Amino acid sequence: MEINNICCIGAGYVGGPTMAVIAQKCPEIKVTVVDINEKRIADWNDEDVENIPIYEPGLSEIVAEARDRNLFFSTDVDAAIDKADMIFISVNTPTKTYGIGKGMAADLKYIELCARQIARVSTSDKIVVEKSTLPVRTAEALKNILDNTGNGVNYQILSNPEFLAEGTAVADLMNPDRVLIGGDIETDNGQEAVQALVDVYAHWVPKDQILTTNVWSSELSKLTANAFLAQRVSSINAMSELCEKTGADVNEVAKAVGMDSRIGSKFLQSSVGFGGSCFQKDILNLVYIAKSFGLEEVADYWEQVIIMNDHQKRRFAANIVKTLYNTVSGKKIAILGWAFKKDTNDTRESAAIYVVDYLLNEQAEVVVYDPKVKPEQIYADLDYLNTRSEKENRDRVTVLNTPYEACEEAHAVAVLTEWDEFKDYNWSKIYDDMLKPAFLFDGRRLLDGKKKKEMGFEYYAIGS
Ligand code: NAD
Ligand code: UGA
Repeated sequence: MEINNICCIGAGYVGGPTMAVIAQKCPEIKVTVVDINEKRIADWNDEDVENIPIYEPGLSEIVAEARDRNLFFSTDVDAAIDKADMIFISVNTPTKTYGIGKGMAADLKYIELCARQIARVSTSDKIVVEKSTLPVRTAEALKNILDNTGNGVNYQILSNPEFLAEGTAVADLMNPDRVLIGGDIETDNGQEAVQALVDVYAHWVPKDQILTTNVWSSELSKLTANAFLAQRVSSINAMSELCEKTGADVNEVAKAVGMDSRIGSKFLQSSVGFGGSCFQKDILNLVYIAKSFGLEEVADYWEQVIIMNDHQKRRFAANIVKTLYNTVSGKKIAILGWAFKKDTNDTRESAAIYVVDYLLNEQAEVVVYDPKVKPEQIYADLDYLNTRSEKENRDRVTVLNTPYEACEEAHAVAVLTEWDEFKDYNWSKIYDDMLKPAFLFDGRRLLDGKKKKEMGFEYYAIGS
């Protein structure tokens, strides 16, 4: 089966970059990315390609090459569905904030809306691809909706979870460790649909890295991968606290254990806590699924990853308060970095939000600098917590666009994102302009601590 026309519902961090790369690598396929968010689509279509809504290294160049050739962004969801042979669903699947499963289960309302819309609009057979991260067995629900509310056309449901990480999305998409495709491999039609998607990826991914499985394995593998990755961060962060008590150094420990090829060196960087839109959401979802099958031990095991992460964020903030003579009331604390990791403007679940919320509760005056995050996003993140009024957040938090200004006359500076540029600042100027003692808290083990101490800083790093 040849795919000529792809539609992707959801022009977000996954839909946008993924479809841009497919369009670039498959110039004969027309790719239309649709979204109900008009502003987002307008930004993807911005004449100046530097203004596309998602910052990812290398992305604007790809969009510049493919846009209006075979890559299109549109709000006309119905039209794009109708014309497509293959429809990717790449909408958000946040944690439920209401009803049964509140705070744990994935909210599948956006997915269901997509399914109902596809069923209503489609007049020809479609392959529907789950790109969003979903609870295992969601494909069953999708199939039920499509088959029972549709126009009698045939649907094949595939699961094709995305493993890209933000900040390296383009590199990850260009050169993935593997592409996973789950389908109804027991039937000829199912196999044909799987092969159609394999053929799309085979334009640039070596065949032996394209893995095909049944749908349930594919859905569950995505949750498993994120749980394993987050678990490594919580494991090293747990050791970081023990290092601080014992004189061991977490970087040295990570290196020593990571050189064991069975353990591996990646994803052992101790930090102020993992953030991002997915780790917490996906583990909570996994915990919820385990509980729903009565698997309490399985649920408790994975929940501990989240408990440890919350503890890490809290203890970092508490350590600032304790070190500043048990009070930060009225003190200026400069925060370097708001994004949940470097090279992205995404702030979802960023540790910075929780650290700053804690410091504001202790009546600190907070000043923030981040190279890519806009002030309105920082305020929106704090407002979303509902801890204090919007006015108070604006009165107590200042966002500046130079790091030097942000650190001027600060009692303490805290590094919360590992932006490369932070390493190269004129730290002796920052030191000179701060109040003394000049406290520096490195939540990322980013800076050269020895040099900072020589400059006169009271330097504290996670895990040493
Ligand atoms: P996102 O919030 O950036 O984008 C989702 C988009 O879908 C939004 O723009 C929203 O307006 C749109 N949308 C929602 N309902 C719609 C509808 N009915 N019709 C049209 N558009 C609709 O989310 P994201 O970060 O791209 O994540 C999408 C999915 O991919 C999630 O399930 C997530 O878990 C998964 N995922 C994310 C990442 C990541 O790095 N962000 C990586 C792998 C997987
Ligand atoms: C993560 C996974 O890495 C992707 O494979 C997955 O597709 C994606 O989630 C998803 O499903 O959304 P992402 O959240 O974009 O990607 O970024 P990561 O590089 O995984 O970082 C997540 C968080 O963990 C960041 O806050 C990062 O700073 C932190 N981290 C990561 C550490 O603290 N230490 C590490 O060693 C690695």
